[in-house]
Amino acid sequence: MKILFVCLGNICRSPTAEGVLRSLCSNSEIDWEIDSAGTSGHHIGERADERMRSHARKRGYSLESLSRKFDPHKDFEGFDKIIVMDEPNLRDIKNLDLKKKYSSKIELMTKYCTKFEASKVPDPYYGGAKGFEVVLDIVEDACRGIIKVHT
Ligand code: 4NP
Repeated sequence: MKILFVCLGNICRSPTAEGVLRSLCSNSEIDWEIDSAGTSGHHIGERADERMRSHARKRGYSLESLSRKFDPHKDFEGFDKIIVMDEPNLRDIKNLDLKKKYSSKIELMTKYCTKFEASKVPDPYYGGAKGFEVVLDIVEDACRGIIKVHT
């Protein structure tokens, strides 16, 4: 299984999803390829947001990825699942799929939640500490769901 997580900046939500799923997979000896990307290129080359990394670290996750932009020429073919954090991400990625060839690969993260009834992973960037905890809560729930559904 090759999974790409996508959010806007690739410095908060999708790097968290990448780090959490990597950690859960490694604990369960699941050998998946996991990556993340952003729909905007505003933070290319940056590490995950310091606030996000700090909240993730407290739950035992180390976020190591560097931000990159989603590449329609490689990523649609290169991954089995492209899992996005909210509706704007979904719209942006679908718009890049010009021939509507990859629709079945593109999914909302929250469809995998079993504990929380969320319709998106809310963008924590302009909010306070609580927002980063909410990201971790929803992402942990969804990542467990991904493993349940695809193993
Ligand atoms: P992310 O959060 O999409 O979860 O990485 C954001 C990061 C940066 C910005 C917005 C959201 N920004 O406006 O710079």
